[in-house]
Amino acid sequence: MLVTQQPLLRRFWYPVMPVLLLDQGPQPFTLLGVELVLWKSASGAVSVVRDRCPHRHAKLSRGWVEGEELRCGYHGWSFDREGTCTRVPQKEDGDSGRICVQHFHSEVRYGYVWVSLDAPLTDIPILEEDSTPGFRRIYEFYEPWKCSGLRLMENSFDNAHFSFVHKETFGKLEAPQPSKMDLEPFADGFGFTMRTVVPVRNNKLGQLSTGIAQAETVRNNTGIWWMPFCRKLRMQYPTGLVHTIFTAATPIDDSSSQIVQIAFRNDTEVQTRAADVIAFDRAVVSEDRAILESTTFDTPVDLKRRDEVHMASDEPGLLMRRQLLAKFKEFGEAEVHGWTGGDAYPSLERARGATPASPTVSY
Ligand code: FES
Ligand SMILES: [Fe+2]
Repeated sequence: MLVTQQPLLRRFWYPVMPVLLLDQGPQPFTLLGVELVLWKSASGAVSVVRDRCPHRHAKLSRGWVEGEELRCGYHGWSFDREGTCTRVPQKEDGDSGRICVQHFHSEVRYGYVWVSLDAPLTDIPILEEDSTPGFRRIYEFYEPWKCSGLRLMENSFDNAHFSFVHKETFGKLEAPQPSKMDLEPFADGFGFTMRTVVPVRNNKLGQLSTGIAQAETVRNNTGIWWMPFCRKLRMQYPTGLVHTIFTAATPIDDSSSQIVQIAFRNDTEVQTRAADVIAFDRAVVSEDRAILESTTFDTPVDLKRRDEVHMASDEPGLLMRRQLLAKFKEFGEAEVHGWTGGDAYPSLERARGATPASPTVSY
């Protein structure tokens, strides 16, 4: 799937930028290949418009905010919060006629500006921990990765990778059998909930983060996938500690995603320093990043293409593919794939022999 070529993906909310960054002036961000400028007016209202001035296509993010308006840095044209040009200073009467720049849906939630490029099909995910007394919000990561959103999403629900990718942090290399999981699709087909119990190693960094002194422990996990690129993983430890992480892979273009991760904890800074929580999660996501950036970004969605070989623990990732394909079909769209950018993307070697690999391998 080439995300920039799927119009349906323009109809979802994505967390794009910490709203605090807008205190420094207009900021650029590329979402699904569309260049945006985010800006905050003097009254605190956030707006998102295309980052191209209609006059000479200068980036409006190079301009500045004046009251409730955004001013182009090239010839000083002014735009209001809906993107309508309000003044052309070179004209004696300043009249701008009917000039405007494209304006997009935006909301501020959980400290982030969320953007949808087209009429949103679903709501911004509700993170109940954010409004649950006793929980605190810890901002963890905001950084670009060279991988597709779907690769990160399926990785989040893949119990088979812990023993290998995370063998230095919490994975048990000696116990590679993945935990069984229970999957419950949303009634509207826009995601699912997954429940699983995962025994884990608890190394020194982990002990600082969990407050559990033993070398091993267990996580009761409830994961939620919100189509297309948001997930929440609520991990409950035997002590009652809840460590929830919300992670989004906001699609920048076909091959890269902006990773947003926020943690929610039901303990206090005195019990566990946020810096220790972040240090452990940093070690874990660095392990994921190293392997995910080695995967192909044109992630197959239609299983009939038989471009990948699967095993039973891949079921959450397969459900993502089925649900996405069903929504594409419902909205009259087909999967667009086939990046032709050269050797950086070698075509997958077919299984030996004439018969294509079976789409699923059960055990
Ligand atoms: S390019 Fe923006 S005012 Fe000229
Ligand atoms: Fe992982």
